[in-house]
Amino acid sequence: ATTLGASAAEKGRYFGTAVAAYKLSDSTYSGILNREFNSVTPENEMKWDATEPTQGSFSYGSADQIVARAKSIGAKVRGHALAWHSQQPGWAQNLSGTALRNAMLNHVTQVATHYKGQIDSWDVVNEAFADGGSGARRDSNLQRTGNDWIEVAFRAARAADPAAKLCYNDYNTDGQNAKSNAVFAMVQDFKARGVPIDCVGFQSHFNSQSPLPSDYQANLQRFANLGVDVQITELDIEGSGTAQANSYASAVRACLAVTRCNGITVWGIRDSDSWRASGTPLLFDGSGNKKAAYTAALDAL
Ligand code: XIL
Repeated sequence: ATTLGASAAEKGRYFGTAVAAYKLSDSTYSGILNREFNSVTPENEMKWDATEPTQGSFSYGSADQIVARAKSIGAKVRGHALAWHSQQPGWAQNLSGTALRNAMLNHVTQVATHYKGQIDSWDVVNEAFADGGSGARRDSNLQRTGNDWIEVAFRAARAADPAAKLCYNDYNTDGQNAKSNAVFAMVQDFKARGVPIDCVGFQSHFNSQSPLPSDYQANLQRFANLGVDVQITELDIEGSGTAQANSYASAVRACLAVTRCNGITVWGIRDSDSWRASGTPLLFDGSGNKKAAYTAALDAL
């Protein structure tokens, strides 16, 4: 096939992108989105600060716009993210203990219920583990409510939308290391105890300090072997030209080599859409032209 989405679909996968609602009126952006991708992830619009700016008052306008676009182009939606230490509304940042725990659970329930039946996969919990060699949980206001905050979030999400796949999502877990080992142990424990988890997301933000790991495929495979789907959820690779193109091809091949790797999402469309402060990490240049990285990704599918 001649587009990322259609080619991935031939392999039983999706190929998605992060989408910003305010860019949907940009015709270059929308043209590429509508043509190339069969999954979308709202880049910021489903986060806690966006969906519940005031406690108990929910605002879904921007996220609903993205979901409507997804529906009109036949794309899946990855929901991102229900519980996270970052991009919390100010009122939640000021809560702790039982009040925060209950606010988080209510948030998970309300948002998952609003989108019930419309989400392929939810990032229920994002970035809950610490970087470095400790294998510990990240310290956060949510973590300080008790170590079981992750599993109660997953149970609330399952109750609200039983059809959505429920994912744990993180970065620096793309290769085998202390952090991914800790996530692995959590997923293994959840499966053993019947905590509902269906997938693990690997953000896959790569740069010269943290390039695509040589054991990327092996790491995806070991998680898949636990009985969960694995997804590349926020792929971007700094660099340019042939080196960048080869890295994109390797990432695509790693996913295709793992039966339960069921989709890839890039974190933006054009280089100018990237969240990164500098660089050219995406598949289309600032004018919307296909880069070598695009062709390499398409050819690898
Ligand atoms: C980023 C967005 O791309 C930016 O627009 C925003 O300012 C900050 O968040 N890991 C995640 C994503 O899970 O939600 C982050 O998205 C990038 C890192």
